[in-house]
Amino acid sequence: MSGSTLRYGDKVVIVTGGSKGIGRGIVKVFVENGAKVVFCARGVAAGQALEAELNRAGPGSCKFVPCDISKEEDIKRLISVTVEHYGQIDCLVNNAGWHPPHKPTDETTADEFRDLLNLNLISYFLASKYALPHLRQRQGNIINLSSLVGSIGQKNAAPYVATKGAIIAMTKAMAVDERFSTFFSCPFSKCVLSCSISPGNVMTPLWEELAGQTADTLATIKEGENAQLLGRMGTEAESGLAALYLAADATFCTGIDLLLSGGAELNYGYKSQVP
Ligand SMILES: NC(=O)c1ccc[n+]([C@@H]2O[C@H](COP(=O)([O-])OP(=O)(O)OC[C@H]3O[C@@H](n4cnc5c(N)ncnc54)[C@H](O)[C@@H]3O)[C@@H](O)[C@H]2O)c1
Repeated sequence: MSGSTLRYGDKVVIVTGGSKGIGRGIVKVFVENGAKVVFCARGVAAGQALEAELNRAGPGSCKFVPCDISKEEDIKRLISVTVEHYGQIDCLVNNAGWHPPHKPTDETTADEFRDLLNLNLISYFLASKYALPHLRQRQGNIINLSSLVGSIGQKNAAPYVATKGAIIAMTKAMAVDERFSTFFSCPFSKCVLSCSISPGNVMTPLWEELAGQTADTLATIKEGENAQLLGRMGTEAESGLAALYLAADATFCTGIDLLLSGGAELNYGYKSQVP
């Protein structure tokens, strides 16, 4: 298939945190659908290995840029390298983030909370800020990885839940701003669209790491699977397809939060004590 007949042929996408997990699934699906993807991560070896693997497979292509998304200078460089290399940005996927080990509020310091805000939320704000002048020229998309727990809460994870709830709110605020921007006036159908994705449990290195910190790793994974109505965790590939849907097909959606949750938010369950 030529670039123009693929679902996202020849469009330029930035994915933060693309070397593993959900980000890797997103990079892979966009390359499979013809995009030119620039992705960043801190782990250079994993990033370069994925870059080589996906460029061999095509039909799109990708470029790995080592970058620490908690640093503003690195974010600026990620955006400028993309524009220098490809001349445009059609879609920004803010994905890089971290879930710290679970612990109660009483044991959480202000600095731990501030560091997580910087990594999980302010990095999304800054990447959007520096990408927006380019996205506006392409009527592009911002896609922010939030979490289901940003809406329903989670035990012993107040800072993480707060960052994820704030991502959903900021996504809506940016959708509004892009419609009424004082810097750039656009007819509705030509605005930058801003949406979030809220995954339930998706099996990734982060999920495995958190499960490994519990007393019974296998039981924790089973519990994680059973939290979804569909009785399993989501996959990296399904995460990629959700992002592709928002970027390629969802042209009348802005400010929405797409639940990628296998129905985890449905039905009653044990809430007051662990069964
Ligand atoms: N896995 C889940 O079940 C789940 C559920 C809800 C939300 N999420 C969210 O999805 C996103 C991805 O999660 P995941 O499970 O794939 O995590 P992961 O740890 O498996 O992968 C995270 C990616 O982000 C990169 N990264 C982390 N810190 C970085 C930094 N400072 N600079 C640059 N890159 C950095 C890592 O290198 C890696 O590529 C996160 O925002 C997470 O909060 C995950």
